[in-house]
Amino acid sequence: MKVGDTHYRSIWFDGETGRVKIIDQRWLPHEFRVVEIDTLDEFAMAIRDMWVRGAPLIGATAAYGVAVEMQRDASDAVLDAAWEQLHETRPTAINLRWALDEMRQMLAPLPESERAAAAFRKAEEICDADVETNRLIGVHGLELIRQVAATKKPGEPVNILTHCNAGWLATVDWGTATSPMYHAVEAGIPIHVWVDETRPRNQGAQLTSWEMNRHGIPHHLIVDNAGGHLMQHGEVDMVIVGTDRTTALGDVCNKIGTYLKALAAHDNQIPFYVALPSSTIDWTVNDGVREIPIEERDGREVTHVFGQLEDGSVTSVQISPDGTPGGNPAFDVTPARLVTGLITERGVAKASGEGLLGLFPERRNAA
Ligand code: MRU
Repeated sequence: MKVGDTHYRSIWFDGETGRVKIIDQRWLPHEFRVVEIDTLDEFAMAIRDMWVRGAPLIGATAAYGVAVEMQRDASDAVLDAAWEQLHETRPTAINLRWALDEMRQMLAPLPESERAAAAFRKAEEICDADVETNRLIGVHGLELIRQVAATKKPGEPVNILTHCNAGWLATVDWGTATSPMYHAVEAGIPIHVWVDETRPRNQGAQLTSWEMNRHGIPHHLIVDNAGGHLMQHGEVDMVIVGTDRTTALGDVCNKIGTYLKALAAHDNQIPFYVALPSSTIDWTVNDGVREIPIEERDGREVTHVFGQLEDGSVTSVQISPDGTPGGNPAFDVTPARLVTGLITERGVAKASGEGLLGLFPERRNAA
């Protein structure tokens, strides 16, 4: 998407320098900082410490991490070790394993002399495919927004609530949950977005709000607990969120707090949609609550709030008593029964095994 006059992706290979560049998201919304990452250790750190984040972008970054490592040493042992090191950075988003498997399956049969070049080509393919996939998610999601818009008075915006950042910063471009929003704006459909702040990492406050601001989409930042109240008062027409892992039966794992939004939406008969590329479906898992590993992050993210001072330095402030430990599960699972539909690159599926297999019939035999 555009920042100033330049069209950016969230990660790209710079042909001039021969190096991979990312937007270092830790500095947003205060500073738009582009950095180069060069070594496998740096790629692993960028994912683990959330310089980049969001399921599709984590996968794309890992793919480039493998490519960079193949340039150094393209042996089987190094390929396997790179897979392991990148895989253990974050446990929940399945796109990470998906991208690493894609890379290894393609590289393993090749002679070592061809692996580095092939790996860079494949990483670029993964990025290009992600952009097209998310564009298609937007095309399909747009129709859902259009249907809601048709029920409103002329000029009245469709109020969409979203959680975390499933925007272009979380993917290579377009975003998943935000792609239908960007497409709606392009189609001239008025929308207004309720952006959950998404404690404790504040992806909504820092990243989704930044995106909405940049692209001129009317929005309000709200505290995580406001959604239910707004739904009760008719202020939310639909919810669209992303996902880090969707099970074969349609359960959806996403940023902590998503489940509570789905419960509130269900109680208020508000459609709750999840936007996802098919690389986010884990066909090996049926029961999301019991089978998906949930990342447990540092309790300090809860006991402290982080922000930037006027001089640009980042600081943290403790908001709880000394000695109170923070509990910090980073994701939760929304059962399929609470999900109105899954917006994928192939269309909108019912959140169920049959719904998903209807759109991805090739998985019927694979299962
Ligand atoms: O911890 P994060 O910021 O990586 O979590 C991101 C999310 O939960 C997103 O909603 C999800 O990855 C979907 S991104 C298109």
